[in-house]
Amino acid sequence: MTTLAEALEAEHRLIDEGIERFLAAPAADDAPSALRNAFAGLRRHIYLEEEIAFPPLQDAGFVGPILVMLNEHGKMWDVMTEVERLLAAGDVTSAAELVRGRLTALLASHNPKEERILYPQLDSALEPQRQEALREFVAAGRLPDGWVCARAGSTPAASETHPAGDRR
Ligand SMILES: [Fe+2]
Ligand SMILES: [Fe+2]
Repeated sequence: MTTLAEALEAEHRLIDEGIERFLAAPAADDAPSALRNAFAGLRRHIYLEEEIAFPPLQDAGFVGPILVMLNEHGKMWDVMTEVERLLAAGDVTSAAELVRGRLTALLASHNPKEERILYPQLDSALEPQRQEALREFVAAGRLPDGWVCARAGSTPAASETHPAGDRR
């Protein structure tokens, strides 16, 4: 059976591939929708980490690493929101620059840390019931409407994309 670590690593690869496909041909007609799909996958992935996978790891003592991950999720979330705003305005060139210059760097630094430090714990530190919940979400879970990650809106550039009333 696939381990939870392998399942979440596979999500990383899938999201990276979607972003790479967009960057390979950002001017293509279907590029914006491909990127929106990759972003939907990344937002859902962040949800499953923050709401299902990380709380028990935090209880098991991984407080510092999780704080770093939450901060990085917030930065990614804000970049995605800004890129979506640019796409909605038809500015695919600026959107691609932001994805290439910022989001890929955030992911390249973030994902290996999770894969090295946190994911190896999932198959041992989580109660069987929590492991099952995580497996079920990976297989068929959906991001709840309106859910926003814990640290979204905390980067300075996000002030206009996350007005105060929009924050959790
Ligand atoms: Fe993450
Ligand atoms: Fe992750």
